[in-house]
Amino acid sequence: MPRTGGFPAVRHRRLRTTEGMRRLVRETAPRPSQFVLPMFAVAGEGVRQPVDALPGIARLSPDLLVEEARAARDAGVGGVLLFGVTDLKDADGSSAHAADGVVQEAVRALKTALPDLVVITDVCLCGYTDHGHCGLLGGGGEVDNDASLAVLAQTAVSHARAGADVVAPSDMMDGRVAAIRSALDEAGYEDVAIMSYSAKYASAFYGPFREAAGSAPGHGDRRGYQMDPPNAREAVREVREDEAEGADLVMVKPAATYLDVIRAVREATGLPVAAYHVSGEYAMVKAAAERGWLDERSAMLEVLTAVVRAGADIVITYAAVDAARWIHEGER
Ligand code: PBG
Repeated sequence: MPRTGGFPAVRHRRLRTTEGMRRLVRETAPRPSQFVLPMFAVAGEGVRQPVDALPGIARLSPDLLVEEARAARDAGVGGVLLFGVTDLKDADGSSAHAADGVVQEAVRALKTALPDLVVITDVCLCGYTDHGHCGLLGGGGEVDNDASLAVLAQTAVSHARAGADVVAPSDMMDGRVAAIRSALDEAGYEDVAIMSYSAKYASAFYGPFREAAGSAPGHGDRRGYQMDPPNAREAVREVREDEAEGADLVMVKPAATYLDVIRAVREATGLPVAAYHVSGEYAMVKAAAERGWLDERSAMLEVLTAVVRAGADIVITYAAVDAARWIHEGER
């Protein structure tokens, strides 16, 4: 290495001297349009139920949902991901595919008021089954993969019929992407895309979400269908399978603690890769910031930037609107 006066000629700090220099050589800059805001829909009018464990997030009736979605769009956010919250639960999760279900009504309201907003719907049964599992139960109380597929497909079609642009199955049943694709095509929704929660881990970081969605399993856990957190190669196998079944976008979830998985998936597929910065990952930063232990803005942006740096094209995050605004402010 060339040396002058005892120092290496290479001084990395030259490119860090001013904000102008740092900006010039910055490798990763998340765009607001990459962010997707998860939203929780409930029935009624004028209903806003804040979620304790998710500061800044509330369950909303369609009218208020439209207002918050409009604000998200105006901030430049790329889309919204809808979850339904309801007391109408049975063993088969039949309210998941009701024509007048909470998600279906919310999608209709959103697409009427904001036709250009990309609306993605979560397709799963856990919020609609009385046992709280993501599929139907078989005789022994275990989740019956194959029996669940038809109900998931029916749910996806009902979302498409309401106007969803993208359906996002999060149940982790094998074969669901193919089942949903063929049901959508048969019903005439060839243009509705599938974002598969391909590599979804059985994570402890979904806690606040389950409070928001009222979707905690009544017995047992989800380890029989969601992935085991120590496994990374398996994520690539899941992604390849979903791609072969017709997924248009794939997802890794959670995000911040699975950056290696995002990178591996990024390298294994040409499809857009989404990463879900989940409720617990968001809540950790919010809680520490509330205590004055972290600076919320810089900590949240650092995490979201890391997720993009790892290879995510899309980041699903409860911080979408704040982050979009912070990015705009930083650009001015
Ligand atoms: C439904 C679903 C869950 C999340 C998204 N879809 C919860 C779960 O699998 O238990 C978690 C999202 C989050 O924590 O932000 N299956």
